[in-house]
Amino acid sequence: MGSVRPRRSCLSVPGSSVKMLDKAQGLPADMVFMDLEDAVAPLAKPDARKNIVAALNDGGWSGKTMVVRVNDLTTSWTYRDVIEVVEGAGTRLDCVMLPKVQSAEQVVWLDLLLTQIEKTLGFEVGRIGIEAQIENARGLVNVDAIAAASPRTETIIFGPADFMASINMKSLQVGALNPDYPGDPYHYILMRILMAARMHDQQAIDGPFLAIRDVDGYREVAKRSAALGYDGKWVLHPGQIEVANEVYSPSQSDFDHAELILDAYEYYTSEAGGKLGAVMLGDEMIDEASRKMALVIAGKGRAAGMARTTTFTPPDA
Ligand code: GLV
Ligand code: MG
Repeated sequence: MGSVRPRRSCLSVPGSSVKMLDKAQGLPADMVFMDLEDAVAPLAKPDARKNIVAALNDGGWSGKTMVVRVNDLTTSWTYRDVIEVVEGAGTRLDCVMLPKVQSAEQVVWLDLLLTQIEKTLGFEVGRIGIEAQIENARGLVNVDAIAAASPRTETIIFGPADFMASINMKSLQVGALNPDYPGDPYHYILMRILMAARMHDQQAIDGPFLAIRDVDGYREVAKRSAALGYDGKWVLHPGQIEVANEVYSPSQSDFDHAELILDAYEYYTSEAGGKLGAVMLGDEMIDEASRKMALVIAGKGRAAGMARTTTFTPPDA
């Protein structure tokens, strides 16, 4: 994967709440997305746009990935959301999140609109990224084309609440396992999104867990998508942030081990190391595939700001 923004914890903040927009600035979330969609009542949307522009321009967000979620394209609000926020604070914005994406054309629409605003205001064309949220059956069936639709797209997000409603899933507990089903009911959806995202070097992000006081429940759900390879998960409450940052980072020992494999492999494949392709590192055999796996773990750890605690020493040094 190319250079990617940290997104272990993606904090949702309603654009209608100046107080929460204020508080979010001091929280240790990797990403903050200011919401204009489902967390904001229809009558509050015009003011929410203004709050978001002010918070982006005047807030202290350093180090955070800054995103605005606009309304989906079946509503009448989307174009005004994009125009008002990007014209008002486009230079402070990293990405626009488009929810309930159903087709590649919807992503192309957003790409073209962003390009027009960037050209009009003299912003760098193409700098603002797109996050595409998959929340219904049509979106999932079209996810490959959606992921391919624009070079701006940085991540594909699973929206479990809307998705469950869309497929008539017999549960109201978002993200939780169902005792009537002998497996993880979300496995196929998560994997389908992950494949589309990885095919285009994009991040895959897991959506919200609504029982915000059940931190153990949050951890359990997060660990399942992290185990598959997901890069992060939404957080709806400050109490979920540290858990997400931990679960979507490698453990210290995995990080150290990955860095060790990278160093050892570089040494053994070099002239000085004997130009070897497959070698023993301790009790394990490592080869080019090991290097690729190690690169993923090391990349996640480096993006999370981890420091290694061991070094590789060549055998005869
Ligand atoms: C998020 O938007 C969801 O529907 O889960
Ligand atoms: Mg949704």
